[in-house]
Amino acid sequence: MTGPVLPRLAGLAYGGDWNPEQWPESCWPEDLALMSEAGVNLVTVGVFSWAALEPEPDRFTFEWLDRVLDLCAEAGVAVDLATATASPPPWLGHRWPETLPVTDQGVRLSYGARQQYCPSSPIFRHRALALAERVVTRYAEHPAVVLWHVGNEYGAHTAFCWCDVSATAFREWLRERYGTLEELNRAWATSFWSQAYSAWSEVIPPRRTPYFPNPTQQLDFRRFSSDELLSLFTAERDLIRSHTTADRPITTNFMRMFKDADYWRWAAEEDVVSDDWYPDLADPDSAIEGALGADLMRSLGGGRPWLLMEQAVSAINWRSVNPPKPSGAYRLWSLQQVAHGADGVLQFQWRAALGGAEKWHSGMLPHAGPRTRSWEEVVRLGRDLAALAPVAGARSQADVAILLDWESWWALELDSRPSNLIRQKDFLLAWYQPLWEHGVAVDFAHPEHDLTGYLVVLAPQLYLVSDEGAASVIAAADAGATVVIGCFSGAVDPDDQVRPGGYPAPFRDLLGIWVEEYAPLLPGSAVALCGPDQAADASATLWTESVHAVDAEVVLSYGSGDLGGQPAVTRRSLPGGGGGWYVSCLPDPATLATLLQRMVSEAGARRAAEVPLGVEVTLRSTTETDYLFMLNHGVTESAVPLAVPGRELMTDSTAHAVVLVPPGDVRIVASPRRSPAEGAP
Ligand code: GLA
Repeated sequence: MTGPVLPRLAGLAYGGDWNPEQWPESCWPEDLALMSEAGVNLVTVGVFSWAALEPEPDRFTFEWLDRVLDLCAEAGVAVDLATATASPPPWLGHRWPETLPVTDQGVRLSYGARQQYCPSSPIFRHRALALAERVVTRYAEHPAVVLWHVGNEYGAHTAFCWCDVSATAFREWLRERYGTLEELNRAWATSFWSQAYSAWSEVIPPRRTPYFPNPTQQLDFRRFSSDELLSLFTAERDLIRSHTTADRPITTNFMRMFKDADYWRWAAEEDVVSDDWYPDLADPDSAIEGALGADLMRSLGGGRPWLLMEQAVSAINWRSVNPPKPSGAYRLWSLQQVAHGADGVLQFQWRAALGGAEKWHSGMLPHAGPRTRSWEEVVRLGRDLAALAPVAGARSQADVAILLDWESWWALELDSRPSNLIRQKDFLLAWYQPLWEHGVAVDFAHPEHDLTGYLVVLAPQLYLVSDEGAASVIAAADAGATVVIGCFSGAVDPDDQVRPGGYPAPFRDLLGIWVEEYAPLLPGSAVALCGPDQAADASATLWTESVHAVDAEVVLSYGSGDLGGQPAVTRRSLPGGGGGWYVSCLPDPATLATLLQRMVSEAGARRAAEVPLGVEVTLRSTTETDYLFMLNHGVTESAVPLAVPGRELMTDSTAHAVVLVPPGDVRIVASPRRSPAEGAP
């Protein structure tokens, strides 16, 4: 068990980005009074304040920020203080145009929006660190500061730069990785298409080419670009660490399933994981993605609580149509994040802006002021989170791990593959959904993590796997786990070179099968699946394979097409007691759900509670107490049976055998902690 995620802040955090420099100072007292009304205890200050703190090179104006932080301290509102380096002012790009990022077609982007910098620019780095140093030394001991916020959403707008400065940095990174040019030529398979390099100076980022650029060059450029941004974060982090106390942790806000930064590597470098989540209101399944992303954030932090750093109270402004959130959704979706391990709920932003590109983005305090529905929802959530203070620091336990490796994701979605329709996120969501619907807790894990503690290890899509990753998956199976490998997995090594001899080479023995040929399906087509356990209308879309079962039971077969009669889903009983499943296609949702339920129940994976459809349940525990979260995403009242009576925290009442959860509402029952073995079957 851990203590609270923010040592200097009791309970759960509630608040948002406050940009006081964008408002007359006469507004500030009203802001703080309304924050108190809403139960706000944490604000993020200074994210986009570079120009307000350094209006021209080396002229600093910190006095306004002194006053802001002092007011916060007086009002008892803690501060997540940004280093203000997220977006340089126009003077940087104007005086040093070489700091501006360049696209793969050689176009240099302009200042005038935000985040316009080349991640490898030494001038940008120098200027950013110089500002950060002033911020940190000035406020290192300020009583209001409880958290440091480095940059903002690294890579959101500029994840890559193809300029000459970046090219030099890329070459350095490649020298580090490969040592010699011969090794680079081998890894990149440059004997193909006459691509062999004869000197390091010829090696460049994958700029716009007449046809597919070298895939391993593209993959390495993604690795490099993620590392390059990360080095900006760690440089500021080290600087902060050298000046501040350990009870003021350091974070930078992630963006959920953001493809362009390898968050396993990033999370390892921060004290607290924090994240921004903007569900797509047009997606009826966004609650599932909300849960998945929250589980991912918890997992990135090694199971520690994390912070929802940004979300919108209501509308955003950056999709094509931006309706307000339906009544109650702000509360329900916020508490969902807490249910999955968040110890804070923060929003972008405190007060809705009157000018600039985000004036049509909602804030906690809307344009119309406090006499509004959304303000009432803000105040209500503040009260709820205060009632949930004892949950702070509680952790979750999962018997099931889903594997996710950013490198595999990048390689999978490069050009020149058997199918461009196969997407990492779609596979994760498809496999996650049935587990979520049945209250099965899930962790995410990197294949090279120690997986031996899990009862079930799922690899919905793991196109690329290292030898170490494959060995780790096999070690989990040896330790008794049920291992499930999805289609087109184990296909290539970290150089994106095919592992030969029948796919999926590293897992053939484990699974007792081999694959002769991949057979992706054309858009809109499906292949029937049949087997003793399945309804005749089972089918697969997107992808199929020609599978040979050598030492495995055939659970489902292809029922039509060229592959008719061949195995589609197989299971091998493993000597360690687990099972080795292979799923060579994307089964329809009902069939996939049936398969996954069988896998997890055979493996003995626990469920938080017996749940009616539409109700999400999770369990967070401290050493003393279990907190059972029940969230009703449906439109009718639902009854959740309780294994142990307890105290319901939202209604402050005793909960007996059954808890009734109204539609769109949440119930959280605290009861004495049970041992892990006592979970629902
Ligand atoms: C991101 C940024 C914020 C703001 C919001 C708008 O999360 O970090 O500064 O632009 O998007 O949704």
